[in-house]
Amino acid sequence: MTIKNTQARWGWLSKVFHWATALLIFIQIPLGFYAESLRLSPLKIDVFIWHKSLGMLVLLLVIVRLLWRIKITIPIALATSRLEKLLASAAHGVLYLLMLALPLSGWITSAAANFPVKLFWLIPLPPIVGPDDGLKSIAAEVHEICVFVLIAILVVHIGAALRHHFMLGDSALKRMWF
Ligand code: HEM
Ligand code: HEM
Repeated sequence: MTIKNTQARWGWLSKVFHWATALLIFIQIPLGFYAESLRLSPLKIDVFIWHKSLGMLVLLLVIVRLLWRIKITIPIALATSRLEKLLASAAHGVLYLLMLALPLSGWITSAAANFPVKLFWLIPLPPIVGPDDGLKSIAAEVHEICVFVLIAILVVHIGAALRHHFMLGDSALKRMWF
């Protein structure tokens, strides 16, 4: 297995980026809802530290992934029509935007609420903005809207991958797997 993509399949680095981010996102969604549902307690603070740290890891991963993506070949889409190809690229584009917008809006929410963001209890991150109640509410709203858009697009994204694998019988899912 080569590190770089070819026109027919994804290289191992792109696969690692895809599945590591996917795993983090699948942890982040329930963790965010769980953190929010808790009453103020040491547990809530710990769960939020996990949520914020893993979320910042997503931001780091997606930045490196996008830089890598600019430099390499992208496998030719296995779409069955021009419309499907267009919809797939649009969905992938929105997923990339959400992977940037979610951590950034979360970071702004925390900074505007005057809560420090510490990566895994160790590395303090600089506040991205100063304390500001109005901005905190807007950023929290944006974070929540992004969550629901993400869930909706993921349903379609995963559905499309399963349709290609089980109904169309092509290599779309296999070529993204190891
Ligand atoms: C069970 C879960 C998932 C499955 C089965 C899956 C499947 C796939 C497959 C098969 C591709 C390759 C499409 C192609 O070759 O044209 C792909 C691409 C992609 N997936 Fe997923 N995916 C999953 C979860 C996620 C998650 C959670 C995210 C991020 C939020 C995500 C973001 C993307 C992006 C952005 C691409 C486009 C890659 C690029 O063009 O650089 N996927 N996915
Ligand atoms: C991939 C990244 C992330 C995902 C998928 C995600 C998901 C979620 C979810 C599902 C919730 C509960 C629903 C809501 O109120 O929005 C939530 C809440 C929250 N998240 Fe995230 N999050 C991510 C990254 C981050 C980061 C990096 C931070 C901070 C550095 C953060 C801070 C927060 C905060 C403060 C809340 C509570 C918002 C409120 O008070 O309404 N999140 N997140």
